[in-house]
Amino acid sequence: MATNGASVNGSKPHKYNPTFTQSVINATGPKATPRVRQLTASLIQHLHDFARENELTVDEWMLGVELMNEAGRMSDDKRNEGQLLCDVLGLESLVDEITYKLASDAIDEPTATAILGPFYRHNAPKLPMGACIVAEETNKQGDRTWMHGTITDFTTGKPIEGVVIDVWHTAPNGLYEQQDPDQPEMNLRGTFTTGKDGKYDFYCLRPVPYPIPYDGPAGKVLQALDRHPYRPAHIHFLLKAPGYKPIVTQIFDRNSKYIEDDAVFAVKDSLLVDFKPFQGDSQADFELPYDFKMASFEQAQKHGVVGSTEQSGA
Ligand SMILES: [Fe+2]
Repeated sequence: MATNGASVNGSKPHKYNPTFTQSVINATGPKATPRVRQLTASLIQHLHDFARENELTVDEWMLGVELMNEAGRMSDDKRNEGQLLCDVLGLESLVDEITYKLASDAIDEPTATAILGPFYRHNAPKLPMGACIVAEETNKQGDRTWMHGTITDFTTGKPIEGVVIDVWHTAPNGLYEQQDPDQPEMNLRGTFTTGKDGKYDFYCLRPVPYPIPYDGPAGKVLQALDRHPYRPAHIHFLLKAPGYKPIVTQIFDRNSKYIEDDAVFAVKDSLLVDFKPFQGDSQADFELPYDFKMASFEQAQKHGVVGSTEQSGA
């Protein structure tokens, strides 16, 4: 009898070749690094178990292959469909939590992280404190907001000098500038650097909920799962400072629709913020105070953050 259907230790006959998965794992050569060996062995095991448990057919597997191929074909420097596909399945949020969570013995916590998302762009304009990231035409359409706060070390409470704050959000039509030919290049994006006092401030808009692009594989998955594509209103941040672990995060308008059912599962309680009506400033209708707390590489390592090395922040 062939290995298919062989009995294992006298127990119930195994429906599929019982040694197949291990033989695929064993094919890894001696020069593979320990981490590559660990990750691929686990991936192969889970993939094979998934196929066996669900009795995956060739047609169903091929649908998955086509979904990945289509995501690849759609992706370019302005669209990251592979990442979006991961996002609707909650994978980026989970990996973010695994990578940045501090061990629970910390007295205080640095600002919580949230996914980078597929709309980040490098080289946003460097702006002076107090500048506006909104193009003039866009500014007439939204709720003008003055955002400000202080960035401190989460263990000492001291302000941090030299933090580069990278900020980005959508226009009132729910589109990031690279999705919208009517917006100027780098609209609603900017970088600011803190001085000795660790303070920052700039003008932006109160964001709006928006649907993630659903004309590709991620949209097909959402449709098949009977889910909507909307994200609650949020502003993205990437904070970097010498000696500190970078923070990738988003803050969410507490009163926004979809706070309870974000299509990409990124909302955390500590990242909910309140936009306050603001008077006395001709440039703003709302005020948004928010302080960030960063962890030094040393503290991050002490508290067991995965990958908390100087290199990981490069
Ligand atoms: Fe976003």
